[in-house]
Amino acid sequence: MENELQKYFLGQDSSLSLEQLDAFFQNTKKFSDMLMMYQCAIREIRTKFEILNDDLSYRNNRNPIEMIKSRVKKPQSILEKLQRKNLELSVSSVMENLNDVAGVRVICSFVDDIYKVAEMFTRQDDVTVLEVKDYIKNPKPNGYRSYHMIVEIPVFFADRKQPVKVEVQFRTIAMDFWASLEHGMKYKKDMPDAEELIAELKDCADVIAKTDLRMQDINQRLQALSHPEE
Ligand code: GTP
Ligand code: MG
Repeated sequence: MENELQKYFLGQDSSLSLEQLDAFFQNTKKFSDMLMMYQCAIREIRTKFEILNDDLSYRNNRNPIEMIKSRVKKPQSILEKLQRKNLELSVSSVMENLNDVAGVRVICSFVDDIYKVAEMFTRQDDVTVLEVKDYIKNPKPNGYRSYHMIVEIPVFFADRKQPVKVEVQFRTIAMDFWASLEHGMKYKKDMPDAEELIAELKDCADVIAKTDLRMQDINQRLQALSHPEE
């Protein structure tokens, strides 16, 4: 295991010093246990959303969730974030200070589905909400929209119950498409044409937000046509 991680770092252009990597490798077993724990938390959260989606599709004949994506943050990104924030490089420091080691993205068809699904999720009694950021009601200046949540859920292992933090992002398909494109701006803010691209992206974000709402309205009217009695 140690060798695999070491190989991983040697192959990367890491900004970490040798001393820092040394200290870290003494803890490799704990570190890989921790990654496994985050992966388990992700599995639990994904299952919760899959069950919600199945239940809602059985009741209403449509799937509010289009797709679920998830990832565990790469070891290098974890260490670099700790370093950037001047935090201790240790497993307990990761668990205490970083909220986004486990990330789940729930892609919904419509904006109102996001709020419905998020509400059903947070009502579950093993889900503790630590933080909510509503970038749909309050978009970022660049036009970024999504509904973010940091939650804590218990993961049950053979000998203990471990509370684990997970970042959950809810978006529409259109918001997700926009965010993937905008992600390309991340390291290019100082390039010659950046200002024009930033303005263009902001305009696209606003058009997309309007279109999302128009399509939601069309969907509601279609639903009303098929169930006029409701
Ligand atoms: P971090 O420490 O970077 O996680 O910032 P934060 O704690 O202020 O979190 P925030 O909720 O603002 O953003 C967390 C995540 O949302 C990021 O890691 C991205 O995945 C996504 N995100 C936030 N802002 C943007 C943005 O402007 N563009 C894109 N493409 N993604 C964003
Ligand atoms: Mg983050």
